[in-house]
Order: sequence, then C-alpha cells, then structure tokens
Amino acid sequence: MYKFPVSKFALGLALGGFLITSQAFAGDEMKYGFGVKPSDEEIAGWDIDIRPDGKGLPEGSGTYDEGEALFAEHCAACHGDFADGGGGRYPPLVGGTPGELSQAVRPGQPHKTIGSYWPYASTVFDYIKRAMPFGNAQSLTNDEVYAITGWLLAENDLHDSDEPMNAEALKKVVMPNVDGFFDDPRPDVKNPHCMKDCFKTVEIKSKATLGVTPTGEDALR
Ligand code: HEC
Repeated sequence: MYKFPVSKFALGLALGGFLITSQAFAGDEMKYGFGVKPSDEEIAGWDIDIRPDGKGLPEGSGTYDEGEALFAEHCAACHGDFADGGGGRYPPLVGGTPGELSQAVRPGQPHKTIGSYWPYASTVFDYIKRAMPFGNAQSLTNDEVYAITGWLLAENDLHDSDEPMNAEALKKVVMPNVDGFFDDPRPDVKNPHCMKDCFKTVEIKSKATLGVTPTGEDALR
C-alpha cells in the first residue's frame, strides 16, 4: 500500500470521523473519552444539504425585487451588476445555453453559467446558502437566499419574476442541462498488494510538488 504519512492520517480522520462521533455518543456514553456531544442546533448548522429532488429545502420565501436588491448589495461586486461575470475568476451566473458549452460552438470558451450548466435548481440554493457571498459564507437568511435564487433563475428565464421563490416553486424548475450529466460507467479500479515476484527496486519518474511522493522503502509498500 502507498504510504502518505500525513495525508493518510488526515484521510483516516475524514473517513472515520463521522463513524467515531456517532459511535462515541451511542447511548450518551463517551466511548473514546474525548469530544463533546453536539447540540441539536449544532447538528442543524451542519445539516444544510439539499437534494436534487428538493429534499432539505427550508421554510422561507423571497421576491424578485428583493433578490435584485440583495444581489446588488452582496454579490454584484464580484459577479457583475447583471450577474454577467466580474471578469477573471468571478464567474457569470446568467446567460448561455447547454449548446454553448460545446467546444465546437465556442472553442475554448464555453458559456458556463448556472442557467446553461447546472442540472438542478435546488443545488443553486444549496450552493449560495453554503458558500456565498465568498468571504462571508452562510451569512444570508433562508428568505434572502430564496430571493436571490429566484432573481438569478428569473434572469436565466427559468422562473416567472412575478412569482415569489420558495421551496415549492424551486422544485418546479427544470434546468435546461438536466440531461447533460450521467453516472460514470467505469468500474472501480482495483489495486491489490503485490505478494510474489514483486519489484525489488522502484525508479521514481516524477514527483508530486508537495513532497508526498513515497521514496526509498516506502515506495515498495
Ligand atoms: C468576493 C467575491 C464574491 C462575492 C461577493 C460573491 N461571490 Fe459568488 N463566486 C465567487 C467566486 C470566486 C466563485 C467561484 C468559486 C469556485 O469556482 O470555486 C463564485 C461562484 C459562485 C457561484 C457558482 C458559479 C458556477 O457556475 O460554478 C454562484 C452560484 C455564486 N457564486 C453566487 C453568488 C451569490 C448569489 C452571491 C451573493 C450572495 C455571491 N456569489 C457573492 C466570488 C464571489
């Protein structure tokens, strides 16, 4: 097995962390003798994912006009006044069609926005609620996120600007690129440990930049 001294530990924590926490507090016992029991409020703070079918969408509602004002205040500085992109790394959020994602139509410059690319409208709410405004994530209320999501979808011609945006309205939005994604059909890659007639020496042809490439004995494991 490859040995990544630091990252392996981190990966173990990432994969095992949930299991440890959920086991540790089974029956209110501190099995491993560390940590504190999360409150319902703390768990609710993490449990904000929203599924493609809209499960997880919170209560709340917002109008097009509210969304327009909120976008100008919290988002336009980076994404442009009309959500048409702020240049450089600040992506446009409005415009384009799935057809304009193609290299053949726009070589090297796909018109990639939430309207042209994203398969589900519920994910737009999830992403804005979770990650935006950049640098001040999760500072917006559910009403505010509904208002902004509704404004963005209306600007993409995917929602009626006279209708408020809420959980029910969001579930009805069908994104133009919903069929542009598919499950990866490739089988999982197996990497069995060598047990017999294995290489005695290993020649490293190139190295990763972060110093994680195994060397010497480690490379043989
Ligand atoms: C300080 C700059 C900044 C502000 C303010 C900001 N964003 Fe962003 N936003 C970004 C950057 C940078 C990215 C790209 C992040 C990435 O690719 O990982 C992004 C990505 C996004 C995306 C995903 C775009 C895509 O197609 O992948 C959405 C949606 C979005 N922002 C919405 C908003 C909304 C809504 C607000 C206001 C509530 C907002 N952003 C405020 C910088 C900002």
